Amino acid sequence: MKSGLCFSGRFFYGMIFYVETQYFASLVMFKRLKNDSVAKFRDTKYCVSTKIKHMKKIVVLTGAGISAESGLKTFRDSDGLWEGYNIEDVATPEAWHRNPKLVQDFYNERRKNVLDAKPNAAHYALAKLEEKYDVTIITQNIDDLHERGGSAKVVHLHGVITRSQSSKNPALTYPIDGWEIKMGEVCELGSQLRAHVVWFGEAVPMIETAAEICEQADIFILVGSSLAVYPAAGLVNYVPRSVTKYIIDPKIPQLSHRDHFIKIEEKASVGVPELVAQLMTADFND
Ligand SMILES: NC(=O)c1ccc[n+]([C@@H]2O[C@H](COP(=O)([O-])OP(=O)(O)OC[C@H]3O[C@@H](n4cnc5c(N)ncnc54)[C@H](O)[C@@H]3O)[C@@H](O)[C@H]2O)c1
Repeated sequence: MKSGLCFSGRFFYGMIFYVETQYFASLVMFKRLKNDSVAKFRDTKYCVSTKIKHMKKIVVLTGAGISAESGLKTFRDSDGLWEGYNIEDVATPEAWHRNPKLVQDFYNERRKNVLDAKPNAAHYALAKLEEKYDVTIITQNIDDLHERGGSAKVVHLHGVITRSQSSKNPALTYPIDGWEIKMGEVCELGSQLRAHVVWFGEAVPMIETAAEICEQADIFILVGSSLAVYPAAGLVNYVPRSVTKYIIDPKIPQLSHRDHFIKIEEKASVGVPELVAQLMTADFND
């Protein structure tokens, strides 16, 4: 017991001595470093936190054109038809009431196509932008190619086809196992499940969130949209006038004269990686 106490006493004083020596040594070191590296370290820390705080916000609005080279057809390419169907026959609440099986089959086929498709160079390039910028993608597309391309913040204005939705309460959505929603499959309220997509004539629940995101943009990029479908097309009006705006489309759509866009008349797989390369070397954040 005594020797134990004695041992801990020696250990205790030893520790105090050790700590004091280390303390004085570090004081001397600190004084030496104070005028150069410590100050530099503080500066660097300050710069890094300021940079994160001031990371430029890029908002990208995408349409069907960005997924065209992944094998998913746009409306415009098919004279306003979607895979040979009139929009009114497959993408409206009236169509669902008239012939739910036809609508279900149509979206099951679209889901099959989406699951088989892969992101293209444009989707991957947008994901790369996140290394330098605070990027939000607002997409009109119902495919999930932005997420699979690596983008972290994706707002789906028109829903996403890889989920199902209650036909009674649109807020109830579920993952789908495989490509098919069968007639007779019901939600927790007992109503038929349908694709989680916004049909023409339905409310667009994410539009206000998207408008707020557009208002915050430092840089705005529009890719592959005919700007014919509202309210999505109206989002460009929420982007402040002073913001630099780019549009990438092989056939640039009509733009309102008040918006000054830098036009990149290219396919998405060419134009987007080119613009991303420029933005990655730009000095905006410094
Ligand atoms: N992939 C999908 O999810 C998908 C496919 C078809 C339609 N839709 C739905 O259709 C609606 C149509 O509106 P929209 O404006 O998105 O599409 P849209 O079909 O009206 O217009 C497509 C635009 O993409 C351009 N385009 C064609 N090929 C391109 C390419 N390789 N690179 C870049 N641009 C290209 C066209 O010139 C056109 O301006 C959307 O609301 C969307 O929900 C979605």
